[in-house]
Amino acid sequence: MTNAPHRPRRSCLYMPASNARALEKAKTLPADTIIFDLEDAVAPDAKEVAREQACAALQSGEYGERELVVRINAMDTPWFAQDLKQACFSQADAVLVPKILSAQDIIEITDFMEDQDASLDTQLWAMIEMPQAILNLGEIAALGPQKRLTSFVMGFNDLAKEMRADHDHAIFAPVMVQAVIAARAYGLNIIDSVYNDFNDPDGLTTACLEAKKLGFDGKSLIHPAQIETANRSFAPHADEIAEARAIIAAFKDSINAGKGVIVVDGKMTELLHLKQAKQLVATAEAIAALES
Ligand code: COA
Ligand code: MG
Repeated sequence: MTNAPHRPRRSCLYMPASNARALEKAKTLPADTIIFDLEDAVAPDAKEVAREQACAALQSGEYGERELVVRINAMDTPWFAQDLKQACFSQADAVLVPKILSAQDIIEITDFMEDQDASLDTQLWAMIEMPQAILNLGEIAALGPQKRLTSFVMGFNDLAKEMRADHDHAIFAPVMVQAVIAARAYGLNIIDSVYNDFNDPDGLTTACLEAKKLGFDGKSLIHPAQIETANRSFAPHADEIAEARAIIAAFKDSINAGKGVIVVDGKMTELLHLKQAKQLVATAEAIAALES
């Protein structure tokens, strides 16, 4: 499942890797992706313990089909080199690097990974949370999978702090559009930022549905109580799946053979809609496989 196309990333749960109880609990939580955090959620004195616990957890083989990611400390910190070195051999599916500023950062990280002989299966994910990264979205995304870069993860708590902006994430709608465009231009996945109020399921549902509408694959989460909402919100709905299957069936019908545009359920339907329909069904099937 790990590198399969359409792999679900509806729910990407952060957990402080210093918190042994959370590490244990995550083995049974229905999050598509687990992000072992060594950065913001870990106090300076706990950095080494968190790194050791994260690596042991990643190598344990006890997290089933969940995608496993480790968020290391930023490049300008004293922990970065050792974090990345150990992450390269941790069997993580991806290393998530915070505070990325430019394409040059990605190149330096990838070169470091090559020097370590990191497995080619270990991908690089970039946090988009600095004003410089927003200005450089296109050049960062353009490096793409040939530099191991496969996902953007938005970080609006840090971006708000850097901008001295309000913490109301609704103000970031234009940035979200730009980031999705940059990611999709180069075939990257993209995960929305966190919703801080984990006791507000209605607010979280609204945030998830807005992100889904913009094209995001899923949402970063901070608490187990948020997982079901994200999984439900980002999964294709039954009526969307039925509509997609109807489009696929209509194009297969011999009376539509060779046609580029047909009418399905009263609506103009072109080959681009067929492609979209196939993608949606593949996503729904990947979710069903993960949940079975
Ligand atoms: N991942 C896994 N398990 C988690 C978890 C997480 N992110 N957050 C809480 N839990 C567990 C707790 O360990 C507790 O388990 P238990 O029932 O076995 O004791 C249970 O879920 C209920 O937790 P709760 O008491 O409601 O939360 P809390 O008050 O202990 O913690 C936070 C609240 C916000 C501190 C905590 O959820 C957290 O650390 N979240 C992640 C923060 C983070 O990683 N930030 C970086 C990215 S922004
Ligand atoms: Mg941060």
